[in-house]
Amino acid sequence: MAEVQALSAKNAEEAEALRIKYLSKKGEITALMNDFRSVPAELKKEVGMRINELKAAAQEKINALKEAACVQEAAAPGIDLTRTPYPIPLGTRHPLTIVKNEIVDIFSRLGFTLAEGPEVEDDWHVYSSMNFADDHPARDMQDTFFVETHPDIILRSHTSSVQARVMESTQPPIRVICPGRVYRNEAISARAHCFFHQVEGLYVDRNVSFTDLKQVLLLFAQEMFGPDTKIRLRPSYFPFTEPSAEMDVSCTLCGGKGCSLCKGAGWLEILGCGMVDPAVLEASGIDSTQYTGYAFGMGIERIANLKYQVKDLRMFSENDVRFLDEFVSA
Ligand code: DAH
Repeated sequence: MAEVQALSAKNAEEAEALRIKYLSKKGEITALMNDFRSVPAELKKEVGMRINELKAAAQEKINALKEAACVQEAAAPGIDLTRTPYPIPLGTRHPLTIVKNEIVDIFSRLGFTLAEGPEVEDDWHVYSSMNFADDHPARDMQDTFFVETHPDIILRSHTSSVQARVMESTQPPIRVICPGRVYRNEAISARAHCFFHQVEGLYVDRNVSFTDLKQVLLLFAQEMFGPDTKIRLRPSYFPFTEPSAEMDVSCTLCGGKGCSLCKGAGWLEILGCGMVDPAVLEASGIDSTQYTGYAFGMGIERIANLKYQVKDLRMFSENDVRFLDEFVSA
């Protein structure tokens, strides 16, 4: 016992050496405990107590020595305890997340709420309820991934499927924004990928008109690309909207004068939109004599490309830290 109480250590390493000497698996006190079995029965109580006391005293002493050594080392000259810590390197948000959040944020300020649907969908929500007839050639517009054993189950090829999901479970007024991943059976290249991301918007209520759509999209474009941004709507075709349009914004690089980004046109196409076809409303249980609606859909990669000039789509999914680090402050 006296030996234990007299222990001393100049630093943390010495204190650790003492722990190993006395208390580790092969330590002296541990050896005493191992020998306990051979102590005669009448002495067991007395000896047991002593060994336990010794062990507790040794633990206490060595811990105290370690603590004292730490304090001493910390206070040693050359160590500044008031120095601010080294900055912890933070991760970055993925550029697609940054752009998605920005889109969602703009529309939530206009009263849109978030809605989501499954990526593995059925044919009804992706195509039939969206007014694609069984033999409609428009189904060829998208190259679909089918689940081999269940041809009715597919990977959604657009987020318009979430429109159907929301309408079948909610009555108007509906005002939702639906971001998500979509899949198309395309060869992977700098300009195409087998998965990408879209944001869908849907507004259904009484007396919703094309003017409302145009106004909301203008506001979105100006919030996203700057207050001087202009928009242009060109007539187009989608099975689920009538009339349908594609929207261009004035070039984000040259402002409309014509440059290499807009290939001299001054305009960049960014989304599809239109008035929800009455057949689509009816297919999801909404009375088309009472309600009208507008919808729009855009690719997040496309918008991110325009904002950040990313030349190769594959960079978005390769997770190269050198690429991701460029978005550190965004
Ligand atoms: N679903 C279309 C696509 O994937 C995008 C789209 C166009 C969505 C027009 C809409 C819309 O809601 O009204 O290309």
